[in-house]
Amino acid sequence: MARDLRGFIKILEERGQLRRISAPVDPDLEIAEISNRMLQQGGPGLLFENVKGASFPVAVNLMGTVERICWAMNMQHPQELETLGKKLSLLQQPKPPKKISQAIDFGKVLFDVVKAKPGRDFFPACQQVVIEGDDLDLNKLPLIRPYPGDAGKIITLGLVITKDCETGTPNVGVYRLQLQSKNTMTVHWLSVRGGARHLRKAAEKGKKLEIAIALGVDPLIIMAAATPIPVDLSEWLFAGLYGGSGVNLAKCKTVDLEVPADSEFVLEGTITPGEVLPDGPFGDHMGYYGGVEDSPLIRFQCMTHRKDPVYLTTFSGRPPKKKR
Ligand SMILES: Cc1cc2nc3c(=O)[nH]c(=O)nc-3n(C[C@H](O)[C@H](O)[C@H](O)COP(=O)(O)O)c2cc1C
Repeated sequence: MARDLRGFIKILEERGQLRRISAPVDPDLEIAEISNRMLQQGGPGLLFENVKGASFPVAVNLMGTVERICWAMNMQHPQELETLGKKLSLLQQPKPPKKISQAIDFGKVLFDVVKAKPGRDFFPACQQVVIEGDDLDLNKLPLIRPYPGDAGKIITLGLVITKDCETGTPNVGVYRLQLQSKNTMTVHWLSVRGGARHLRKAAEKGKKLEIAIALGVDPLIIMAAATPIPVDLSEWLFAGLYGGSGVNLAKCKTVDLEVPADSEFVLEGTITPGEVLPDGPFGDHMGYYGGVEDSPLIRFQCMTHRKDPVYLTTFSGRPPKKKR
């Protein structure tokens, strides 16, 4: 099974579900437009190998069909998704088993939880290259701008990792980030999201919030991060439950956070509470442009990546038709 992004790309290629594109493409509008057309036709995952202005390939549409989502979750058939749903509901509302068969089922689920605990990698692939200070330039990443009315370049499929400054419990969510300068981005998280809660708490304590963005991870982890789960449950454990074994984590270089060791790229930074910049507008999944909102500003001090990283991206929903 795939335990990292490149493992999943290999699986798609072996199963005839990946197309490599060597013609030059522009991350401004063109990548999203080509990908959108392919997605509508149920086409394969795409790997753009020659992206204008960037030296890294861009993967998109990897989970563009139910079949590929099943493969990402290490399943062969959509019916298996139902079995997983039952397992997860057992964990969410555990009731004392009344029959031996129920006790056996519950025991199996508990065993799965033990297997799902994250592991630790001390020499992680995601830190093969380390870029710090003035050398850090986010313009070198092939960030896309999907739609003509979009305000700028965005990260669409990054794991945004923060920590509760009191309990230390991490939160992992997928939130849109807009490029603001060579080392800053704004993060667009709704006020109910885990990251927003952590920032409010850090502000109350008069602290800065540390933040890491992991780009290009095992699709299973993206799925876990995009699943709304109880606040005290770690997304890492949840991803391990999805995958049947624990996620390998590594300590970041400059912040006290953990990231998937096999990420393609990792960005490390901090948010000073109250420091905001206008973010948006961007086309959203309903087919409209959203508004402009003051959003927290992240200042990045470090980027690490694998030696030959692949940048994974996506775009949201149907192309926008008109302004809100
Ligand atoms: C591709 C993608 C983009 C998303 N973008 C955002 C976003 O910009 N802001 C947001 O608040 N949620 C966004 N979400 C939804 C959250 O990731 C999701 O609700 C997640 O469960 C939030 O985690 P949390 O409850 O731990 O904060 C996105 C989800 C996906 C799959």
